[in-house]
Amino acid sequence: MNYNKKTVKDVDVKGKKVLLRCDFNVPMAKDGSGVITDDKRIRAALPTIQYLLDQGAAVIACSHMGKPKGEVKPELSLKPVAVRLGELLGKDIIMAADVVGPDAQAKAAALQPGQVLLLENTRFEKGETKNDPALAKAMAGMAEVYVSDAFGAVHRAHASTAGVADYLPAVSGFLIQKELDFIGGALANPKRPLVAILGGSKVSSKIGVINNLLEIADTIIIGGGMAYTFSAAQGGTVGDSLLEEDWKDYSLEMIQKAKDKGVKLLLPVDTVIADAFAPDANSKVVKAGEIPDGWQGLDIGPETVKLYCDAVADAGTVIWNGPMGVFEFAAFAKGTEAVAEALSKTNAITIIGGGDSAAAVQQLGYADKMTHISTGGGASLEFLEGKELPGVACLLDQ
Ligand code: 3PG
Repeated sequence: MNYNKKTVKDVDVKGKKVLLRCDFNVPMAKDGSGVITDDKRIRAALPTIQYLLDQGAAVIACSHMGKPKGEVKPELSLKPVAVRLGELLGKDIIMAADVVGPDAQAKAAALQPGQVLLLENTRFEKGETKNDPALAKAMAGMAEVYVSDAFGAVHRAHASTAGVADYLPAVSGFLIQKELDFIGGALANPKRPLVAILGGSKVSSKIGVINNLLEIADTIIIGGGMAYTFSAAQGGTVGDSLLEEDWKDYSLEMIQKAKDKGVKLLLPVDTVIADAFAPDANSKVVKAGEIPDGWQGLDIGPETVKLYCDAVADAGTVIWNGPMGVFEFAAFAKGTEAVAEALSKTNAITIIGGGDSAAAVQQLGYADKMTHISTGGGASLEFLEGKELPGVACLLDQ
C-alpha cells in the first residue's frame, strides 16, 4: 500500500465546501445521558478542522457512532458530539437532522466559509456499511473536496470512508497523515533495530500481525495471555491460563519462521500466577511453562521484565500492541508498567497501537512519553498486519 498520500495542504479549499470524515465514535455514558466519557477523538480532529476553517473552507463534518445498522437510533445521535466540538472550537456547530436528507442538503447548501455543519450518524443510512454508490454520491454532492481524517475507520470500506472518493478529489487530514508517517514509516523504512512487542489475550487476534512483523522486525517480544498458547505448544503446563488449543500449531510455525528469518523471538521465562482471576487473588512467581492446575498466569514475571526491558533499551523503533498482563488489576500491571517505563526511557521511536495498549499507557501515566499513540484500534491492527486500508487506498497519491 502506498502511504504517500496528498494532504489538505495539497489542495485549494478557499471558499470551498469540504466533506470531512472524522472518527467521532466516542465512548458515551451507559445511562443514556448523552455524556461523552472520553473526547480524545474529537480533540484529535481539531487541527484539521481548524486548518480548513483558517483556509476559508466551509466544513461538512461526518462520522459514524456505534452500530445502528441502518436505523435511526436517537441514543447514537451525534448531537452530543456537536456540542462538545462547539465547545472545543469555540464556535457554534450547525447540526443536521439527517445524513443526506432534506435537512442536511438545505444546511449544506446554505453553509458559508468558516462555518461547520455536522451531519447525523452516517450509519443511520443503510447504504453506509454496504458502501452504496448512491449514498456516496449524495454525500459527495454536498461538497467539492473530500478530506478523510477518520483513522479509526480507515479499515472499513464504507460509503463515507471510501466510496465518496470516487466522486470528489480525496486527500488526508493531519491525523491520518501522522498515523501514516509513524506506523507506515515504521513498517516501510524503520530505524533499526525494530522491536515489536505483542501482547493481549489471544494469539488468534494477532496472527496477521505476528506473521507480518516477522517479515520486518529484528526482535519480536511476546507477552500477555497469548504467551500461554506458545508455552503450551512447546510442551509447557499452563494450568488454568488462557489457552487457544487450535492455535498451538500456528505458534510453533511462528517460532520456526522466526528462526528461518533470523528474527529474535522472545517468550516469557517466568510468570506471575494467581489462584483466581481477581484483583486480590493470591499470587506467586513460577517458571514459564510450570503453572500448576488451579492457577493462571496474569502477568509476566520479574526475569521476563528484565529480558524485555533490555531488548528495548537500544532499539531504534519500538512498536507495541497489547498489554503484558491484566493491567486493569494493579497487582498484575507490573509487567505492562515496566515495559511502558522502559519505552519512556529509550531513545527509540515508540509507537503504541490503539485500543488496549493505548489505554494501558494512558492509565499508567506514560502517554506523553511516547512518540506516537495510534487513535485507531482495529485500524492500527490491520495496518500492522500489512493489509490494504480502504480509507487510505482511496486517497490521491502524492
Ligand atoms: C473504532 O472505534 O475502532 C472505530 O470507530 C471503528 O468502529 P467500528 O469497529 O464500529 O467500525
